[in-house]
Amino acid sequence: MFGFGKGRLEGLPDGIPRRVGDCLVDRLRPRDLIQVARLEAESFPEPLSFRALLRLWLMPVTHYIVIRKKRKVIAYIGFQMFGPAAHTISMCIHPDHRRRGLGKLIQQTADGIAKGLGAYWFTGEVRVSNTAQIKMLEGLGWETVGVCPNFFKNGETAVVMWNRLCK
Ligand SMILES: CC(C)(COP(=O)(O)OP(=O)(O)OC[C@H]1O[C@@H](n2cnc3c(N)ncnc32)[C@H](O)[C@@H]1OP(=O)(O)O)[C@@H](O)C(=O)NCCC(=O)NCCS
Repeated sequence: MFGFGKGRLEGLPDGIPRRVGDCLVDRLRPRDLIQVARLEAESFPEPLSFRALLRLWLMPVTHYIVIRKKRKVIAYIGFQMFGPAAHTISMCIHPDHRRRGLGKLIQQTADGIAKGLGAYWFTGEVRVSNTAQIKMLEGLGWETVGVCPNFFKNGETAVVMWNRLCK
């Protein structure tokens, strides 16, 4: 019933789509993109546009997971696979649904998918000011492995974080 998705994920034992309470953890569908673009615009100083998201989503290395409540996207994560590494593009929880464990849930879902596709670690750059994301990732066992000054367009430093998936 929920079989629509990018073919490369079909048949993998990644456990999605799956229901969690009244939500559905699922692969992104094209119709979700407009809501993802809206969340990007509301949540990030340098948001990805609808066109940029579409371009990324069409790339074979890209995977987008969403959490929907009925048809509303309340969380998403995008990541790309580069050999043994999965790299976060961005993730966001709708402001009305934060601090309920959805951030952890969607990251752990992405971990499972990346692992199934052969990743040994997950990595990403986080704004040094983004305490929420840094704390959430640390809670999942991520470590800071470096900093990149001037990483973001506004000159903000990135904290480079990573998590070993095979422990
Ligand atoms: C960062 C973000 C994804 C966290 O999602 P979330 O669903 O609220 O996080 P969770 O409920 O899973 O929180 C897990 C833990 O992270 C930490 N955490 C989450 N939000 C926090 C905050 N605002 N301040 C401090 N710690 C926070 C806490 O340790 C929390 O555990 P607790 O609630 O038991 O204390 C969310 O705040 C968000 O979407 N922010 C805007 C977009 C963004 O910054 N994305 C990341 C960069 S790509």
